[in-house]
Amino acid sequence: MTAVSPAPPVATGAPAVLDRCRALVRPALGEAVGRLHPWVGEMARYALGWCEAGGASVAAPVAAPGGKGVRQALAVLGAEAAGAPGRDGVPAAVAVELVHTFSLVHDDIMDGDATRRGRPAVWRAYGTGPAVLAGDALFALAVETLAGAPGGAAAVGTLSTALGDLLRGQADDLVFATRPWTGPERVRPGEYRLMAERKTGALLGCAAALGARLGGAPPATADALDRAGRHLGTAFQVIDDVLGLWGDPAVTGKPVHADLRERKKTYPVLAALDSPGPAARRLAGLLDADGDPAEAAALAEAAGGAAAARDEARRHVREAAAALASVPLAGAAGGELRALAAFLTDRAR
Ligand code: IPE
Ligand code: MG
Ligand code: MG
Repeated sequence: MTAVSPAPPVATGAPAVLDRCRALVRPALGEAVGRLHPWVGEMARYALGWCEAGGASVAAPVAAPGGKGVRQALAVLGAEAAGAPGRDGVPAAVAVELVHTFSLVHDDIMDGDATRRGRPAVWRAYGTGPAVLAGDALFALAVETLAGAPGGAAAVGTLSTALGDLLRGQADDLVFATRPWTGPERVRPGEYRLMAERKTGALLGCAAALGARLGGAPPATADALDRAGRHLGTAFQVIDDVLGLWGDPAVTGKPVHADLRERKKTYPVLAALDSPGPAARRLAGLLDADGDPAEAAALAEAAGGAAAARDEARRHVREAAAALASVPLAGAAGGELRALAAFLTDRAR
């Protein structure tokens, strides 16, 4: 079996809690991935940023990083918020990180995106069929991991509900791409919010709530953490949309303007289209004509789309903070959750 290399640090400016939780979760995550079929396991390690295509250790971990590890951190913090040691949340952390990895492997196939985290997406590196299989295997491994934890049956139920939401969100995301930019059939910001809460928020909420449950939290605490995670996830997705339009691909590791080319209905563009003034009208005309994506991004910014999206993300972070403040949280967990929320809205990748 390939040796587990040390976890690379995440982007500068990230709160220390991400590194702390990654270090806590990494051994169990490595052990779980080590149970996969060797070829499938290699694809999983590639998707996690642990190896190159072909299985060699990553030459430069910083140039080919894994994810930020937000979901695993939420699971650990959920357990700590319940007054338990963070290690009690590790099975939940492993499960949500595996589900997240699975969802990204399949998402890049669905979106036709060739690049993830600065490297070829799994389907480009290994082929579409193998990537579908790797995603399926990661999902099965997540269920198996969680089922083996104390209180596993209920936890698997919670994870399945979140996964159902995630898939509904992904379905809406794909269907919205077939709807027009303007006119009565256009996608409204309210429809976007529900889609984003489902495709991204559900798993963040589930991560925190599952960690709390494994840590012995009462249902009210787990529910509050679930609400907080859903709002954080919605904020996270809105910022993901912003970075997809105006981010630096060298930093995000993803191509710029891919959402526009795919006619994805992202929040900044919907908000820009809803704004009064000439930039919104020109944007509408350009999008309806499938015009230049770079010009559309510039017009969306001129029409206030970036500012509106950042306001929307901040609003969800405030809602998350209100949910956290509604229940007692043990130790430093509340402060660390707030630091994580601030990072998610200020991030550049
Ligand atoms: C991904 O959404 C959400 C899930 C994988 C469930 P996006 O398609 O908007 O995210 P990126 O930009 O590819 O990461
Ligand atoms: Mg995508
Ligand atoms: Mg997608």
